[in-house]
Amino acid sequence: MSPSGQHAVYPVDYDLLERQVGSLLEGERDFIANAANFAAFLFHELPAVNWAGFYFPDEDGLVLGPFGGKPACTRLPEGRGVCGAAFAQARGVIVDDVAAVADHIACDSASRSELVVPLLLDGRAVGVFDVDSPVVGRFAPADLNGLERLTARFVGLVSVPERYRRSQAAATHLNERIDIQTCRDHHVVIRYLADQLGAAGATDAALPLLKRLRAVLVTHLKLEDDWLYPNLAKSDNEFVRRKAERYGREMGGLRDHFHALWQTWQKDGAIGESAPVWLREWAIFQRALVARIANEDHDLYMAAEADFGV
Ligand code: SME
Repeated sequence: MSPSGQHAVYPVDYDLLERQVGSLLEGERDFIANAANFAAFLFHELPAVNWAGFYFPDEDGLVLGPFGGKPACTRLPEGRGVCGAAFAQARGVIVDDVAAVADHIACDSASRSELVVPLLLDGRAVGVFDVDSPVVGRFAPADLNGLERLTARFVGLVSVPERYRRSQAAATHLNERIDIQTCRDHHVVIRYLADQLGAAGATDAALPLLKRLRAVLVTHLKLEDDWLYPNLAKSDNEFVRRKAERYGREMGGLRDHFHALWQTWQKDGAIGESAPVWLREWAIFQRALVARIANEDHDLYMAAEADFGV
């Protein structure tokens, strides 16, 4: 979707447009009024353009905002189309020929080329401004740069509604961030209890620690089984999907291992009665547990964070 080849030349004085946008919007704080005038102004001022307008984040993607031109697609699914890509990546996109782009969403068959710039607030996309042209190759890098300046001016002059700042994507990522952090916190507690249990040897302190370890392990494995693995199994990235399957399988093995340990040693007095056996069996389990936790921290959770974009 990057600009390529020759562009038709449509000289536009973006310095002038920027000043004009400033006078058009200053003095008015209402977001819709300003967005509507910004879109109408550019629709009329930019040569060879058949649509110019906003899309803003909504529950399932982007929803149409104020624009100039013919009625357009109301909703664009999350991450889809040129607008979805520009929003998700928070960067401007030029499409020289929309027919050559598989993920272009056609709202008007007259549109042949397109330029989309994100509206950036503190480095995060809070919407996009989309311009369509009936001319192939209408937009040059100078237009991208000019539109970026104009939208930056727009964002600087208006008060962007709170709901656009907290897009669905950001909210989902917040939940995922919390869940991964919870998994990491479990690991800290599990590692601590395992150390304590190792230090307790075969004394009376061992069984209460084993019970506490079991409680945290059960909660932790449930979070991984119910949330982490199913989410990673849906990843677009085959590498991440395989990793999740492998960890899920191996974690099942560790769970069975702990279950067997628990069955044998949960009875009062069992640890003290067969101390050498307990110490040997616990040491084997502890090694497997600690190795697994380290792997998850450095491999699986890192992959999850990258995959979820947190
Ligand atoms: N073509 C856009 C959809 C919006 S309309 O062009 C107004 C896209 O692919 O995202």
